[in-house]
Amino acid sequence: MDVVLVGLPGAGKTAVGRRLASRHNAQFVDLDERIEHDQGRTIREIFAQDGEAGFRRLERAAVTALGAPDPSPEIRRVISPGGGSVVDPRNRWLLFRGRLPVWLDVRPEVLAQRLRRSPTVRPLVQGGDPLGRVRQLAAARERFYSAAARVNGLSEVTTVVSAVERLAQEAGPPEATTLLRSATAIGEVVLGDGIAAEAVGAALRRLEAQRAVIVSEPGAFGAFGEALAASLREEEWPVEVMLLPSGEDAKRLAVIEEAAQALARLHVERGEPLIAVGGGALGDTAGFLAATYLRGVPWIGVPTSLVAQVDSSIGGKTGVDLPEGKNLVGAFHHPAAIVLDVAALRSLPGRHLRAALGEAVKMAALGDEALFATLEEAGELVATGAPVAFDEGIVAEVVERAGWAKVAVVSGDERERAGGGRIRLNLGHTIGHALEAADGYATLLHGEAVAYGLRAATRIGVALGVTPAGRAERIEALLTGLRLGVAQLPYPLDAVLDATATDKKHAGGRLRWVLPTGDGTVVRDDVPDEAVEAAVRGVLEGVAGVAA
Ligand SMILES: NC(=O)c1ccc[n+]([C@@H]2O[C@H](COP(=O)([O-])OP(=O)(O)OC[C@H]3O[C@@H](n4cnc5c(N)ncnc54)[C@H](O)[C@@H]3O)[C@@H](O)[C@H]2O)c1
Repeated sequence: MDVVLVGLPGAGKTAVGRRLASRHNAQFVDLDERIEHDQGRTIREIFAQDGEAGFRRLERAAVTALGAPDPSPEIRRVISPGGGSVVDPRNRWLLFRGRLPVWLDVRPEVLAQRLRRSPTVRPLVQGGDPLGRVRQLAAARERFYSAAARVNGLSEVTTVVSAVERLAQEAGPPEATTLLRSATAIGEVVLGDGIAAEAVGAALRRLEAQRAVIVSEPGAFGAFGEALAASLREEEWPVEVMLLPSGEDAKRLAVIEEAAQALARLHVERGEPLIAVGGGALGDTAGFLAATYLRGVPWIGVPTSLVAQVDSSIGGKTGVDLPEGKNLVGAFHHPAAIVLDVAALRSLPGRHLRAALGEAVKMAALGDEALFATLEEAGELVATGAPVAFDEGIVAEVVERAGWAKVAVVSGDERERAGGGRIRLNLGHTIGHALEAADGYATLLHGEAVAYGLRAATRIGVALGVTPAGRAERIEALLTGLRLGVAQLPYPLDAVLDATATDKKHAGGRLRWVLPTGDGTVVRDDVPDEAVEAAVRGVLEGVAGVAA
């Protein structure tokens, strides 16, 4: 087995790692040392000469060169990566999968003391305020370290070593891979591969539940929920399963009434959580059921579609449709835990994967350069559900970057208050929603509509001079490369323009447009009708010469 020690600079990864390795005749790999040796330069020199980006490239190469994890039950290799290596989602994927990651957790105050005395100068904590810098690093990295098994790193080296040995003996290398864990303002967020049963079990225990009440629909239940229910039963949880209709058919008040009656017959009590297993439609409905049954019970979201993992499960918007329009009845009700298990996406039909990338491109356009680059490089592999996209952690990276961006925005604006940051998430949605309405919600998937809307918003931005030409080209080229928003659409121009005018994002009667800038977005309420008309006309015509 390989043990991977993670933690902040000064947490003792080298001292603990060396001792642990020597007690087991195992190999000790200090990745920073390996890089220095291979480069013939110190980390400090590499930072000075190549910048942080250059160092990170060398670090990725060193992580990749570790090769496959050792499969034996004994500790054969102890790996100590640099403190910041796990920030990169793909490094974390390579380092944590099939290995036992252990977090040496030490308080920033203690670390700052240790670093002051340290003979090796660590470039990231240099400067006048080591404690402030260590605190910053701790806040930025805790969600990555928390994915590993936690050991108190404050004790004597031998005590820490024994604690790691106990973990290795008891747990061994985990079959599931947890990649991120964070107790956020909008509930616990856990991301990983094959983690659903363990993460749901932990959330149920935290909520002091006596049983697992699963709310799902036939598609997601057959593909994923059934196995989750079986694993929970294996862990001795009594499991109840309630299946709602699939797709948008679930989002009706009649379904809520029936489902609430079923909960009453099961004697579901206050405080007892529901577990929502499914895509966005199921999540919206089950979340609304949880928001209203007994005036609110907790719920655990287990999103099984890509749209649900990067978007709908995060943000607490729950609700159902009326014949008069979509999502007209609803409530804000954040789940107690959101379990993002990318294993669920392996069975998702291709069209749903591709469509969801419309939302992911939007998230990139909000200002995530790394997500942009990943989608440009490997988006097509994700869109087609290629096994390599799952096996190499590309899907996990897209879910993490796009999903976490939404967590960050929503945590700062939990209920979409006027003037709050959440409006930025609406990029591409004004015209996207209008196209869905003109379509009668019949053929376009939400993400597909958002892709058209993002093109339109970009063109409006160019017309108003807020979106630089280069940025607009990059956004449109990415969408075209992913074959999103390229087909001609058959809707009458007036129908789309009318629907645009009734969009909900008004302030004092003026429509608020979110438009891309060079590196993010701006909100404008002075967009002339002609610019909107030209943009809508343009997207309805599609992109010439590109097959949808
Ligand atoms: N609450 C929000 O903030 C928010 C945001 C965006 C979208 N939404 C809503 O989300 C819905 C669209 O989401 P969606 O596309 O996930 O819809 P969905 O729930 O209808 O799922 C799409 C289809 O995929 C199937 N499916 C789901 N998971 C699967 C899996 N792992 N394997 C195989 N099949 C699987 C389902 O059975 C369904 O047929 C819309 O109702 C939209 O309004 C809500």
